[in-house]
Amino acid sequence: MLLLLLLLLGPQPSGAHPGLKMAVSSKGLDYVRNVVTDCVQEELLTAVIPDIEGKVCIGIGNVHYALSQMEVVKVDLPQPSVNFEENVGVRVEVSGLSIAITGHWRTWFGIIKDGGTFELALFDVSSASLLQLGMDSQAHVSVGCLTCNAQIGRIDMRFHGGASFFLQTFVKLFPGYLKGLIEGHICPLLETQTGKLEDMLATMNVNLHIDPNMIFNLSLTNAPLVQSSNMEMDLKGVFYSEQHPSEPPFPSQDFQLVPKADYMISLGISQFSLNTYTYVCLTAGLLQINITDKMIPPVFPLRLNTSSFGKLIPQLAKMFPDMLMVLQVFAAEAPAVSLQMDSFSFLMSTAINAYAINNTILIPLFTLNLTTQFSGNLSIANEKVVGTLEFDKLKLSLVSSKIGTFQTLALEKVMVQGVKTFLIPALNAKLQRGIPLPVMKGVAFVQPVLQIQQGFLAVFSDVKMRDSSTEREL
Ligand SMILES: *[C@@H]1O[C@H](CO)[C@@H](O)[C@H](O)[C@H]1NC(C)=O
Ligand SMILES: *[C@@H]1O[C@H](CO)[C@@H](O)[C@H](O)[C@H]1NC(C)=O
Ligand SMILES: *[C@@H]1O[C@H](CO)[C@@H](O)[C@H](O)[C@H]1NC(C)=O
Ligand SMILES: *[C@@H]1O[C@H](CO)[C@@H](O)[C@H](O)[C@H]1NC(C)=O
Ligand SMILES: *[C@@H]1O[C@H](CO)[C@@H](O)[C@H](O)[C@H]1NC(C)=O
Ligand SMILES: *[C@@H]1O[C@H](CO)[C@@H](O)[C@H](O)[C@H]1NC(C)=O
Repeated sequence: MLLLLLLLLGPQPSGAHPGLKMAVSSKGLDYVRNVVTDCVQEELLTAVIPDIEGKVCIGIGNVHYALSQMEVVKVDLPQPSVNFEENVGVRVEVSGLSIAITGHWRTWFGIIKDGGTFELALFDVSSASLLQLGMDSQAHVSVGCLTCNAQIGRIDMRFHGGASFFLQTFVKLFPGYLKGLIEGHICPLLETQTGKLEDMLATMNVNLHIDPNMIFNLSLTNAPLVQSSNMEMDLKGVFYSEQHPSEPPFPSQDFQLVPKADYMISLGISQFSLNTYTYVCLTAGLLQINITDKMIPPVFPLRLNTSSFGKLIPQLAKMFPDMLMVLQVFAAEAPAVSLQMDSFSFLMSTAINAYAINNTILIPLFTLNLTTQFSGNLSIANEKVVGTLEFDKLKLSLVSSKIGTFQTLALEKVMVQGVKTFLIPALNAKLQRGIPLPVMKGVAFVQPVLQIQQGFLAVFSDVKMRDSSTEREL
């Protein structure tokens, strides 16, 4: 009994498969490394080094010292090696870093005070750290410093000025002492920086605002999977109405994105994800239009008036002679996008309420059910999504009528003609001009490739940071 209860109350089979998958390849990681290395090099050069004070025992007593006004004058940072560490995260290894610093020194030995300037060079600084990637409680990517070690190969320090008798001993002992001191500071510094990155990730908004009415939920559905040559992330990828978020009434389906190593990122956007978009459009009331005669191309034979329609529905012309009409068209359910290898199809079911217009009064005439299916293909050219659309089928049926029943076949034929000769060419012209790819926070796609695969859209691309101010923001 208890078991049954537990089964009933236990975790619901959420069946929540990710709507969006993203893989970052080693090539992508190399790009991140290059950007970060340039930033670090720049930051080291402008770093504000806090004053150091302390005391060193030179055998005959303690020398108190202070190093101040320190400035980095030269940094030589070789490319670090950055690699994925399977099931853990990222291993970062730096070797051969050298830094030259200048500054002022002061010493106190009892009542003897001394001071001058110095030049300090650190050679062959190396560090190895292992960063762990995971998922925090808020479904963000998390990062932490798992292990770290650091060494300084050699330290070279020259003092200028100063004449006290103890200075020679101090000068001999001090560099070794300072080397240990700085070595001990490297890992805590890296840990602080990792902590800053973690804080940034933790506060990152996983809800992307598409427009004032829509958000795209990009929270992780499980911890990132780190493999030896890439990192894969499963994201929710569900569109929600901003005002009335509700779960879509259809289930997600799993799909297999096969990442390509020669692109920095591979992205899979599922059919489910696209369908949550059309669902939000439906619930937000965006999928409706009132069609008037003015909107019908002048050359089209059927006009939106009772005389013209009367040729197809004889009783209409008799009951309401010579009146303009309006068609209120609205989606009856969310349009269904379906993705097959190299093609997509789009099925839309709409209800059409037809009215005759008598001055300002709308006289209800009949309601039609119109189901249309299009198919087509998509690709990316010149950083824009382009495609072609074809007409598949159109089915018209009468749902209800205030003017008595009538055959819809003749009307259906005219509609097919309208769709084929006006709608499809107009949509194709638009699709050929292309839809610009979204740019997120200064990251642009470079030479992206789009493929329609079974159940999802695959995008393979390199990326480029747009400018340095946004680089830091990321
Ligand atoms: C986004 O998804 C996460 C995880 O399912 C959830 O905690 C969060 O509330 C969602 N956000 C919205 C606005 O639905
Ligand atoms: C269509 O017309 C009706 C009645 O005039 C109006 O209530 C409705 O808001 C209109 N819909 C659109 C999408 O313009
Ligand atoms: C209705 O359409 C016909 C063409 O089929 C046109 O001659 C006539 O003037 C139109 N009537 C109205 C009221 O617009
Ligand atoms: C159209 O409206 C006029 C008054 O504005 C009315 O006299 C006439 O009966 C209406 N016609 C129909 C068919 O409802
Ligand atoms: C509209 O017609 C399609 C078949 O053409 C049918 O599947 C659908 O249920 C109909 N919808 C309504 C609201 O009658
Ligand atoms: C897309 O479809 C059109 C028409 O069917 C065809 O001419 C074109 O070659 C197709 N493009 C791709 C990339 O498959």
